Order: sequence, then C-alpha cells, then structure tokens
Amino acid sequence: MDVIDALEAKIAKVEKDIEAVEGQIATCTDKETLVYLRDKKKQLRDENNHLLEKELILLRNAAATTVLPPDPSSGLPSYYQRFLKLLSLGKITTPNPVVLAAIKRRCPSRLWMVDNCDDAVDLYREAQLFPGPSTEGHLLTQLGLRVNGPLFPNPADGPASLLVGATDDGSPVVVKLLRGVGTAGAQQPGGAEAEACRVLMESKPAAVPLVPVRIVTFEIGINHVSVVGRAPGLYAALCMPRYVSSLRSMVQLSAAAVLAGGRRMVAALEWIHDKQYIHMDVKADNIFVDMEGRWWLGDFGSTVRKGSPVTSTTTWFAPRKVLDLPAEPQYDWHMLAVALVCEMNRKSWKELLVEDGCSPSKNLIAAVKELHGRDGCAELARFLNDELLTRAGCSAALP
Ligand SMILES: Nc1ncnc2c1ncn2[C@@H]1O[C@H](COP(=O)(O)OP(=O)(O)O)[C@@H](O)[C@H]1O
Ligand SMILES: [Mg+2]
Repeated sequence: MDVIDALEAKIAKVEKDIEAVEGQIATCTDKETLVYLRDKKKQLRDENNHLLEKELILLRNAAATTVLPPDPSSGLPSYYQRFLKLLSLGKITTPNPVVLAAIKRRCPSRLWMVDNCDDAVDLYREAQLFPGPSTEGHLLTQLGLRVNGPLFPNPADGPASLLVGATDDGSPVVVKLLRGVGTAGAQQPGGAEAEACRVLMESKPAAVPLVPVRIVTFEIGINHVSVVGRAPGLYAALCMPRYVSSLRSMVQLSAAAVLAGGRRMVAALEWIHDKQYIHMDVKADNIFVDMEGRWWLGDFGSTVRKGSPVTSTTTWFAPRKVLDLPAEPQYDWHMLAVALVCEMNRKSWKELLVEDGCSPSKNLIAAVKELHGRDGCAELARFLNDELLTRAGCSAALP
C-alpha cells in the first residue's frame, strides 16, 4: 500500500466514525451526552480536514514530480510529455495537476496508450469524474447511498464514473456520476443525460422496462474541490439497480428468449417515443438483464428530443451516418432489429450487416430472411419483420 492509499484508508475510517457519531446524535436524548457527542464529531471533522489537506499535498507533489522533463540520455520516450502535448492540441493547455496525478496513479497504462488528442481529452475528462479519494463516496453517503468502489476496478474494462454501492435499505445499486455542473438556481446539473432521465422517469409505471434511474444531486464545495479535482458546483449522479449483466456479456440465448426480450424492448421504446424522445443507442451493451432474465433498456447518454440533431450514437448499428441529422423513431427500431439479429449471429454479425461502417436496411432484411429459414427461429423472424422492420421503414417479403 502506498502512502496515498494508506491516507485514503484513514480518511474512509474517520468518515465512518463521523457517520457513527451522527447516528448516535440522531437518537440521543440525554443533554450531556449530546454535548459530548457534538464535540467528538467536531474533533473528527477537524481530523478529516487535516487528512484531506495532507492528501492534497501528496497528490500535488506526485503531479509535480511527473512534469519533470525526461532524461534525454535515457533514450526512452516520455509518454507523459506526449500526453501533455496531446492535451494542449485538444485545447487543455493548463491541465489540473491533481487530475493528472489521478490518471498517473489509477490508470498509467491508458496514459501510455493514448495516441491522439481526442482520446487524450476524453481520458482527461473522464479522470475529472474519478471518484475522489472517498470524498464523493462521503457525499453520496449523505444521500442515503453507500458507495463501495468502482464497478470496473480495472479502468480499461469500463468507465471510472460508475460506482457500486447499496441504498440504505440494502439494495445493490450502480451510481453513474454525470458530467455537467449546474449553477446555483439556474442550470440543472448532469447535462442532457440527466435531463432525458428526468422526462423519461416521470410517472413511469414499474412495468415499463426502462432501467429505473433516480437522479441525485450533490454539491462539491470548496473543501472537496481540491481533492476530487472538480470545479465547485452542483453535480448529478444516476442511481439504478445493479443488474446481473448487460446483454452483451450474457451467454448465447435461445430464439425464444431473444423474442421475449425484444418484445420488452418494444414497450421500452414506445414509452420513450411517447415522451417525444429518441434513445439513439439501442444495443446489447445498453440492455441490462436481471436475475429473472428480463431485459431493461438503459444508458440515456445519447437520448435526444425527437427531431433534434443526433449528438451521439453507435454508427455501426445505424442504417446510415446519422450524426447531426434530426432524430427519428425509425432509427431506434432499426437499431433494435440490428441488436436482435446480432444476438442470433454472434460470430458473424459484422460480415452480415456492416457496410461502410453502418448496418444498411438491405443487409438487415437479408439477415431476417435467413433467420426465418432457420430451425426454431421463424417466430422471431416474423416479429422482427412485422414489428421492427416495418416501423423502421423497410420490410422483407417473408414466405
Ligand atoms: N446498473 C448496472 N448494472 C450492471 N452493470 C452496469 C450497470 N450500469 C452500467 N453497467 C455496465 O457498465 C457499462 C457502461 O454503462 P452505461 O450506462 O452504458 O455507460 P456509458 O454511457 O459509459 O456507455 C454497461 O454496458 C454495463 O456493462
Ligand atoms: Mg452504454
């Protein structure tokens, strides 16, 4: 364990002690004991601030040592210098040393691998969202969420902004920290993703199979800023049930299971479209599977209002290049059909569907026709054709 890890462990312990004392204060009726407990809480808070300051100094030092120019005699490339150059090409000319130190400490291999300015900026932005050393965990605890750590301990496996934890009543949850700072009283935090979730979750019946997300907002004040490397302000996070798996990580499913899941996704998309939104990223990574094998549509990071320009999508699964075009329900139906066809052709979907980086309708139609002829797949193929392709504006003439 290095010094910073040891400090983080200490901070976590003190924060736990503070929580315990807060619990005692809440239930204490004796005046004298209350005075004692409040005093104890103050001492713990002071200790915590002291530890946080110490950690900040260490993080700053770590950052400072990394900016030393490389030793030219070593002949080795300096990936760190290259990363700084890529960042400056991406218009981040004075990166925050604390964020740089966090990248170096938590995922040095990604720093070595980055070879273009877009990826460098993405990594930097992601690192700004790294859960601070226990501080954000503490902020979330105040909201009734107990945070355990990252969903993907190895940063190469998935975004560091996803945390696992539990609600106060013990249900396992995933917390997704969002970008986008809100200004007091004006702009809502969490950007477009939080905005879409707010609309989609409003009066949603439990039976509609969209991942039920709760939006929580928390304030990062001056005390926390230095440690988490984020600007002070109001932040948002999404709190959702922890699923067993995404569809992408499931074993190969039967045609009947894919059909049942597909029907649920139709209900999910109908709900979104009724709210005048388009999901724009229907795919196996964004379909979550629960203990009963039921599918839930999630990840509203690309979701936009119907008719407004598409801001992001997975082009491979779209009928054509749709970025910046007005978002239409047809795109979602097309992408859902593609997702189901991919499920039934896990090894060969790319050759079957993808052309010029997209999945054009004619390839989708051909794949549905082929599926129709396959043993035990006729019902699924008919559903694909009648329910999805028709709504996507194309359909095959099945026998
Ligand atoms: N609630 C959850 N339960 C289980 N795994 C999850 C959950 N949320 C996210 N994941 C995993 O993290 C991945 C990325 O999450 P997602 O919300 O799709 O974020 P992104 O916008 O980065 O794609 C998912 O594909 C899934 O593997
Ligand atoms: Mg996703």
